[in-house]
Amino acid sequence: MNDTFKITIDGKEIEARQGQTIMDAADAAGIYIPRLCSHPDLKPIGSCRVCTVVVDGRPQAACVKPVMDGMVIENDTPAVLQHRRNIIDMMFVEGNHFCMFCEKSGNCELQALAYRFGITAPQYPFQFPEKEVDGSHPDILLDHNRCIMCARCVRASQELDGKNVFQSIGRGFHRKIGVNGEKELGDTDMAVSDRATEICPVGCIIKKRVGYEVPIGQRIYDKAPIGSDIEEVHP
Ligand code: FES
Repeated sequence: MNDTFKITIDGKEIEARQGQTIMDAADAAGIYIPRLCSHPDLKPIGSCRVCTVVVDGRPQAACVKPVMDGMVIENDTPAVLQHRRNIIDMMFVEGNHFCMFCEKSGNCELQALAYRFGITAPQYPFQFPEKEVDGSHPDILLDHNRCIMCARCVRASQELDGKNVFQSIGRGFHRKIGVNGEKELGDTDMAVSDRATEICPVGCIIKKRVGYEVPIGQRIYDKAPIGSDIEEVHP
């Protein structure tokens, strides 16, 4: 059975395979769709909605939506870009992201997306919520101020580390990442070598005592915009 077919993204016809998501097919064709909660080593959950595309007139999360023969997808249109920008802006104002003081600066996917979208200041008022910093673990710092609730750590702990250190708890504005219920990180079996330690896209989970090993200006997104690896591999 022939399981390959054509789909169209922004008027460009590309090949897709049965079982791929829209994001998989776009990546393979060198078309970057912005993302935050998605990670190649984790099962996608479609939670952050930064990857929203319009499929046959309806918004869909590209990281979870399977491709179908003949699909027509809008990825790079003013309306889609504005929708993504709104989501990114909300992430900035709902947390406390002080990039200039953050060890993740230059390696942070949220910051890199803001640069890619040309965001210099969010369009919404800052909420300045009160969030906790958990320094109880000897090797790992958990700073809830920078959490964007992507749940990568939750999935990495379960799927890759075989543990269950993190959970998503609470609702709405009060939703947060919990640690074995309501404990502190130092009470858990989390290890600095766990994948959950390094899979955070922002500066919420960082290793202690290795700060600024790579100087500012020489970090991943100091060198090239986020998504350029996908676009460059397949020009
Ligand atoms: S990357 Fe698709 S919903 Fe987050």
